[in-house]
Amino acid sequence: MTRMQMAQSRGTLKVMVLGADGYLGWPMSLHLSALGHQVTAVDNLVRRQWDEHGGTRSLAPIRSMERRVATWQALSGRYIQWAQADLCDHEAVYDLIGRHRPDAVIHFAEQRSAPFSMVDREHAVLTQMNNVLGTLNLLFALHELAPDCHLVKLGTMGEYGTPNIDIEEGYLEVEHNGRRDRLPYPKQPGSFYHLSKVHDSHNIMFACRIWGLRATDLNQGVVYGLATPECGRHPDLQTRFDYDSVWGTALNRFCAQAAIGEPLTVYGKGGQTRGYLDIRDTLACITLALEHPADPGEFRVFNQFTEQFSLNELAEKVLAARAKLGLQTRVEHLPNPRVENEDHYYNAKHQGLLDLGLQPHLLEETLLEGLITWVEERVGDLDPVLLQRPSVDWRTGGNAVWRRYATQSLEAPGGVLALGEAGDGSVEEVAI
Ligand SMILES: NC(=O)c1ccc[n+]([C@@H]2O[C@H](COP(=O)([O-])OP(=O)(O)OC[C@H]3O[C@@H](n4cnc5c(N)ncnc54)[C@H](O)[C@@H]3O)[C@@H](O)[C@H]2O)c1
Repeated sequence: MTRMQMAQSRGTLKVMVLGADGYLGWPMSLHLSALGHQVTAVDNLVRRQWDEHGGTRSLAPIRSMERRVATWQALSGRYIQWAQADLCDHEAVYDLIGRHRPDAVIHFAEQRSAPFSMVDREHAVLTQMNNVLGTLNLLFALHELAPDCHLVKLGTMGEYGTPNIDIEEGYLEVEHNGRRDRLPYPKQPGSFYHLSKVHDSHNIMFACRIWGLRATDLNQGVVYGLATPECGRHPDLQTRFDYDSVWGTALNRFCAQAAIGEPLTVYGKGGQTRGYLDIRDTLACITLALEHPADPGEFRVFNQFTEQFSLNELAEKVLAARAKLGLQTRVEHLPNPRVENEDHYYNAKHQGLLDLGLQPHLLEETLLEGLITWVEERVGDLDPVLLQRPSVDWRTGGNAVWRRYATQSLEAPGGVLALGEAGDGSVEEVAI
């Protein structure tokens, strides 16, 4: 019996959540802990520094990890082990994997903003170093110390771009000159961030092929919502809400704009279509992937989203929800700071997780009304400039808005880029 089979027969998994201080990593850690799994939550807290550097912040106040895990333990009686560590510090990664020998690792720990990666050379380099090298360190640690561990890696639907044919789940059956093969689906990503995810996918697929690692790559759509059953139990357990043009999603921006009666700013024509899902479905999808692990040597790919919408359709939905709450707003089309198709074919398959049993929560007006009302209660904390004005242009990089808010040089000693380069392999673990 392999370690994974033993863990499955116990019904309790030892799960390491990387990026556990983030928007998704924190609710995921709580959810798995609530299900009775043994959770180690890992993060280097760099996202808090990137916020400070760019003058942005979550509209929902985020407590320290120490306070979050202590509150969770007090409320639930369940223990989450918190460890501060940087994936770019290979000694720290080896130390963590070697000591915990997890049955599964869920890897959220990356720089995840496309605009951030397009600010300038430093931000592009930081993004690709952080994401690609961190994942590579993890792959080697798993190979050498926990080869049966199931790696669940968060990728993005943005890896595929917007091809003029249906998007399949990871692989494409190709016939060429009379011969057939099943090949990785071609990727045409739209930013240096999305490219880092493609590089990760290639490295993970290669590691599965040569070392027999087992991995699930989740090409996730854009996630919305804040309300998970666990996060809702106490204000200390709240997850992030980003609305600015660097970290916020278009839907969060529209809800925030609707809350203060500002026009909803759609970039370009608004035909840009993407996959979306409720945060509760993110938790459900990843739990399903954990409960049905990939086989040794398998590089399994799921497209993780439940519905697709164009920007115009999303804006219409927010307008309708706002009108129901008694206020009219309007849509304003801005020159698109991104380089992307604004009117295109989009039909992405997403059957794999449904086949495993996913029961989607679809985007409803009530959820949008709830989000708008939630923002309304915090309008005093919204920064109208960060809300209304894009600060990064794909062709020219960070603009005057970016420069006005950015406070700290990335290359300063001890600055953000320096993080992860001078690691001493130490992992600060806090037992509460
Ligand atoms: N939020 C979405 O809509 C969405 C959509 C598709 C894919 N994803 C992917 O899901 C993952 C999580 O996204 P999120 O929205 O929670 O992002 P987030 O920025 O809120 O969280 C990421 C966390 O990873 C940590 N981190 C980054 N680099 C690290 C490193 N080198 N070592 C240790 N920790 C590190 C950060 O401090 C942060 O807490 C990302 O990989 C992202 O690409 C997110």
